[in-house]
Amino acid sequence: MITGRFNHTIIETRPSAEEAVYELAQDIASEARIRAQKGQSYTLGLATGSSPLPLYRELIRLHRNEGASFRNVTTFNLDEYLGLSPDSVHSYTYFMREQLFKHLDIPKHQTHLPSGLIAAEKIEGHCQNYEVLIEKAGGIDLQILGIGRSGHIGFNEPPSSLESKTRLINLVPLTRRDAASGFGGEEKVPQRAITMGIATILAARRIVLLAWGENKADIVSRTLSSSPNDELPASFLSLHQDVTFLLDSGAAKKLTISDE
Ligand code: F6R
Repeated sequence: MITGRFNHTIIETRPSAEEAVYELAQDIASEARIRAQKGQSYTLGLATGSSPLPLYRELIRLHRNEGASFRNVTTFNLDEYLGLSPDSVHSYTYFMREQLFKHLDIPKHQTHLPSGLIAAEKIEGHCQNYEVLIEKAGGIDLQILGIGRSGHIGFNEPPSSLESKTRLINLVPLTRRDAASGFGGEEKVPQRAITMGIATILAARRIVLLAWGENKADIVSRTLSSSPNDELPASFLSLHQDVTFLLDSGAAKKLTISDE
């Protein structure tokens, strides 16, 4: 295990993704339990894609085999492709249902994703309402993130500003190319998405970014060595007081961090 820091950012590296998420899943289950005992809710910001899958598998295992309950958990997902119905196998709503929600005991009305089917004239109101829902839930306690090779978190593609909130965004070519295999071709990947903004993400009380594999090594090292700027949206994470990058050895390959 290697632990280090870049400014405020805590870097934790484990040999594999499975080992990296083990403690995080325990933390989430134990925080949910402690809050449930006090009659409180626990609000998670969630991501889709390959990065959170090992964490979701571990949460499911804790629920199935160790009796962990997530009944008092409320969730807000980062993003959704515009134009996809919740039943599309490519939608993030479908992904979350299949990969996590249907296996846990979180009541459905406590799970939230932006709608992919919102009419053009209603998008602005829908995005504002998403922010209101997060506020009404008491804000996000723990935000889980992946990172795109464009430097996006959520779908905050470059350029994205520090003040950005939930909004419609155009996906950059690299992001659409990276998603192409899942869609059966780049031309089938939606051009636009609704995403929480940088300000929405940074308002979370705790943030954990997950990155696995050597193909993330370059963007992880560029993010950690850049000062906050719109052209590398993930670089804004260094402004947050409680952010951890949880990496496997592949994703940490280009970092020089000293043991603490
Ligand atoms: C997904 C999301 C994106 C992904 C990023 C990495 O909800 O917000 O920022 O986290 O594109 O994707 P994977 O994990 O598939 O490499």
